[in-house]
Amino acid sequence: MKQTCLIVLLCFVFGLFAFAQTNTNTLKLCEDNIDEIIGMMTNEEKATILVGGPGSLVPGAAGYTREIERLGIPMTVLADGPAGLRIQPKREGIDQTFYCTGFPTSTLLASSWDPELVETVTTAMGNEVLEYGVDVLLAPGMNLHRNPLCGRNFEYYSEDPLLSGKMAAAYVRGVQKNGVGTSVKHFAANNQETNRLENDARISNRALRELYLKNFEIAIKEGKPWTVMSSYNKLNGDYTQQSFGLLTTVLRDEWGFDGIVMTDWGVKDGTVKSSKAGNDLMEPGRQVEIDRILAAVSEGSISQVELDRNVRRMLHYIVKTPHFRGYKFSNKPDLKAHAQVARKAAEESIILLRNEDNTLPLKGSEKVALYGLTSLDFVGIGTGSGEVYTDHIATMQEAMNEAGFTLDQNLAEFYQHYFAQQEAVQKMERNNRWGYRNIREEAELSARAISLQAQENDVAVYVLGRNAGEGADRVLKDDFELNTNERELLQNLSSAYHALGKKLVVVLNVGGVIETASWKHLADAIVLPWSPGQEGAHAVVDVLTGKVNPSGKLPMTFAMQYMDIPSSKNFPYGQNTSGRRGERKDVDFTNYEEDIWVGYRYFQTNNVGVSYPFGYGLSYTTFSYSKPKVKTDKDGFTATITVTNTGKVAGREVVELYVAAPAGGLEKPARELKAFGKTKLLAPGESETLTMKVSTYEMASFNEKNSSWETAVGNYQVMFGASVGDIRATVSFELKNAQSWMVKMMW
Ligand code: GLC
Repeated sequence: MKQTCLIVLLCFVFGLFAFAQTNTNTLKLCEDNIDEIIGMMTNEEKATILVGGPGSLVPGAAGYTREIERLGIPMTVLADGPAGLRIQPKREGIDQTFYCTGFPTSTLLASSWDPELVETVTTAMGNEVLEYGVDVLLAPGMNLHRNPLCGRNFEYYSEDPLLSGKMAAAYVRGVQKNGVGTSVKHFAANNQETNRLENDARISNRALRELYLKNFEIAIKEGKPWTVMSSYNKLNGDYTQQSFGLLTTVLRDEWGFDGIVMTDWGVKDGTVKSSKAGNDLMEPGRQVEIDRILAAVSEGSISQVELDRNVRRMLHYIVKTPHFRGYKFSNKPDLKAHAQVARKAAEESIILLRNEDNTLPLKGSEKVALYGLTSLDFVGIGTGSGEVYTDHIATMQEAMNEAGFTLDQNLAEFYQHYFAQQEAVQKMERNNRWGYRNIREEAELSARAISLQAQENDVAVYVLGRNAGEGADRVLKDDFELNTNERELLQNLSSAYHALGKKLVVVLNVGGVIETASWKHLADAIVLPWSPGQEGAHAVVDVLTGKVNPSGKLPMTFAMQYMDIPSSKNFPYGQNTSGRRGERKDVDFTNYEEDIWVGYRYFQTNNVGVSYPFGYGLSYTTFSYSKPKVKTDKDGFTATITVTNTGKVAGREVVELYVAAPAGGLEKPARELKAFGKTKLLAPGESETLTMKVSTYEMASFNEKNSSWETAVGNYQVMFGASVGDIRATVSFELKNAQSWMVKMMW
């Protein structure tokens, strides 16, 4: 009897256990049971999802988060980059290819001054992220262009925080429309590549708030990115990934960010400090980081509350992802359609810097002598994690031929031969992903050869190129400045073609600002496409022929010379390695001595001449600006201005709204960009009224002493400009009530 009871009891217990087990196994993660799931997770499981891990779901993806099968938590996939998805184009044993579209780089997108255009581009880009099975695109990169020699400026937008922030917010909205995430990076103050893993950016609170954080603030409030990527560097002594002030006090408590923060691809030894600071995810992730988190929890240096807080944020992220939603991705995005999006975006963003005697547009029937190694080795994007593996980058030779131009064939073949020789050199350079140097050995052409070519052709087009890349900053010699062969070629072309009353057009296919003041007079026209993506060469030719009327404007200043730039005093272009490790100025630490005086804020305020000012760009037509109207209310002001196309061809105009705040109190820039608008394509004679709103908060300056944003009483000048130096109309108003917004100190 007893034995029977025992057997029955054992069966009952086993049954209970099995039931419980089944019950346990049935509770899988879903959007509305996150807290229950957290309650069921072991600390090992919690630590696991806070640390990235290896994966092979999408070859070439930058990283993954880890799965916990028991709870229905899938792995998710993270991949670069700002100009398009970066994954391996070919896979072992599979015929199908996985090329992605190389869209215009961020600096060119910013040159459009058109957030709607940016959103259109990244809606297409985000579709490739979705259809290739990726959950988060590690972009936009948006560190400020503090200095033109930063190697990654092509991945970033502007010297101005408003333009940079608005572009990034539009970028995020477009990508995330596809139900995939973005990662606004690199938060914050990653404004140089030299010693980027350790460099301590030492910045005043005011410069931080008004410049280096302001763009991120706009992007996060107006874009609502799923994730933020903290940067490698230190900021005022703390690694950003370990800075509670940055990642919690400012990012979350003040700006309301509710997503996850991931590290850049390197976790500092202080994993524990990073977790506590609010850096939820460690990438690329190693077991040692899981161990460190667990050890910290068991000894109490990470509290259970802190651990669960980060886990909760990770689970809220995971339930949004296509992988969690079980999306059946096709691996077949419409690359043809996206190529057209890329071409149109480049067309709408290219900048016309110079056009003497209406050299451009060309008629299309001209015999063209096309010069420059870069007419074949066209710089579509750049190097490093911002590169995109496209199946093709159009060249200028190809694009000119496709547009029906008759190219000087001897010259074309000369460059084809020269490029073949150079390509081996460039390939070796490109393989050196980190620290890619950009020296392009321009082919030498004798003055005699050029003079013969000038007789046989109607116009010269010289494509001058500069690449740029992650892992190294640029240099002055032969990079920011022209090299000897380039300068000689320019001079010889200019004299030979001008001697016969013919024109020279220069195309600057560059990843960043170069010196222009010393040679621009040699050219009759200068077109600036930056690194315009895989279809960019076609867009350039569309501008040269007038099929597209250029409407881009500079998102940064072209100084007369490098040393005029305030940050040139301490930017590490000279690789200053003197002094003991830890004490090397500009390498172990960089004092942002120029403070808020970056770009036009400095040049305009101090009346320092520039080669091309911020916001500058020409058109094939002309525009008039009406008398503006400014209506103030308690929250700020609304400005309206009517723009009319007064020329003979259709075109678009960017109107930039600058504000000059009243003198007294804080020293302020002579004018600051506070809004901008771009007209639709206006036919000759057609007008459009643009409306721009600015809040009193957006007018404020940051007072470090009071740790508050302050909008002072007094007279405000509202200026409407075609560039920062070309103000077409001004309206002023009195602000009667001062306003201020206190913020918590970060440190
Ligand atoms: C790199 C870059 C970052 C990129 C990440 C993943 O080091 O700094 O921009 O997203 O690693 O590739």
